Amino acid sequence: MIEVVRARPEHVEGIVSVCSDGYRATYVDLHTQEYIEKVISDFYNDERVLKEVENSSKDWGGYFVALDGDQVVGAAGGGMTGDETGELFVIYLDPTRRNEGIGSLLLGAVTDQQKDWGATTQWVSVVKENQKGIPFYEARGFIFQSEQDNWLDAKATKTLRYKREI
Ligand SMILES: CC(C)(COP(=O)(O)OP(=O)(O)OC[C@H]1O[C@@H](n2cnc3c(N)ncnc32)[C@H](O)[C@@H]1OP(=O)(O)O)[C@@H](O)C(=O)NCCC(=O)NCCS
Repeated sequence: MIEVVRARPEHVEGIVSVCSDGYRATYVDLHTQEYIEKVISDFYNDERVLKEVENSSKDWGGYFVALDGDQVVGAAGGGMTGDETGELFVIYLDPTRRNEGIGSLLLGAVTDQQKDWGATTQWVSVVKENQKGIPFYEARGFIFQSEQDNWLDAKATKTLRYKREI
């Protein structure tokens, strides 16, 4: 059985692992190896993730983890970007555990938190051509809004903005 809880320091190693493995598996055909490894070392290192587990606010609601026993099999987090607007900032799974409903449980936890804070709309950014992410968001009711340059590298694959009412 999968349980979704707010992440605690003992989950940091598992979050780093699912986000790094998930990121590599997702973007292997979409980004250069150099870009992938830079993002992973900047964002999914123990020090940064521990800070993001220990410090939360409405801007960053902290990580939620999906646990199978005591193993972290997925991680997600988001925050408020306006009084009634929330955003999913990150969601990754152990790549061998996709399509079991775990992503929906994680999205549900982030969404409940944002609804408690007054959100009625929820946004997400997804890399154009990310066929491991886009069908999930569309299945959960997100609707395409616009296309933007990649925030880290304007020459890289474009980013798509999606939103849904919650
Ligand atoms: C996106 C992700 C978190 C979704 O989690 P998941 O546990 O695989 O998704 P679920 O099993 O909860 O699926 C929910 C719905 O999405 C649909 N879906 C998910 N991935 C799909 C895919 N690749 N193609 C078609 N449908 C898909 C499922 O069929 C399901 O629909 P239903 O509820 O109508 O039956 C996970 O697949 C993942 O880690 N992907 C790679 C990382 C990624 O792209 N993250 C997003 C970065 S922006």
